Amino acid sequence: MRILGLAGSHRKDGNSYLILKEVLEGLEAETKIIQLAEANVKWCDACGLCKCTMKCVIEDDVESIFNKMKEADSLIISTPRYLPIPSKLMALIERIASLYHFCSEIDPHFRFPLEEKPFGLIVVSAGGGRQALEALKELAFQVIHCWHMKLVTIDSYPCLGVLAKGENVGEVLEDKEAIDQTKKLVEELMI
Ligand SMILES: Cc1cc2nc3c(=O)[nH]c(=O)nc-3n(C[C@H](O)[C@H](O)[C@H](O)COP(=O)(O)O)c2cc1C
Repeated sequence: MRILGLAGSHRKDGNSYLILKEVLEGLEAETKIIQLAEANVKWCDACGLCKCTMKCVIEDDVESIFNKMKEADSLIISTPRYLPIPSKLMALIERIASLYHFCSEIDPHFRFPLEEKPFGLIVVSAGGGRQALEALKELAFQVIHCWHMKLVTIDSYPCLGVLAKGENVGEVLEDKEAIDQTKKLVEELMI
């Protein structure tokens, strides 16, 4: 079982990374965490060249991240609430979605490698709770719609994923309820 964590923050080693690390470390599974803060992710130029090549011509870290997502059995995305989600995370969604879009235009039988792969979500915000609901809904919608992945949910409110509270680096580790919910979410992702 290989679980890939993706921390969407622009702040390295921030709260969204720390909650992932707290839960993934020590699991009896192969785990890895990618921090977008450390990655070079450019936005899609809409050049359309991937129609012919099925590969993006932009040289950055997106292909390597996409390959790790393909290799993993499941993905857990942890992101801070921004406006509503970090632009780098949105650029990653857009870049990978463009490959899918252009490839399926050429070949109607094209099967996207992330299709039906399970994923779970965590959103950290300074306010916690409802403050981050919009970000959670937006992210769930984008990943289902653009990457065709399968959302794995939890029983507790708001079910779409975990809402964690934290502003300054490290504060999220005080949100024990969110950590417990994330553990449950990861258990579901490992089934
Ligand atoms: C651009 C930006 C917008 C933010 N907007 C909100 C917000 O609307 N509501 C909120 O509760 N927190 C907001 N925050 C705070 C972050 O969600 C919070 O500090 C979070 O812990 C950051 O996670 P990180 O340490 O992984 O970067 C915002 C932070 C940034 C940088």
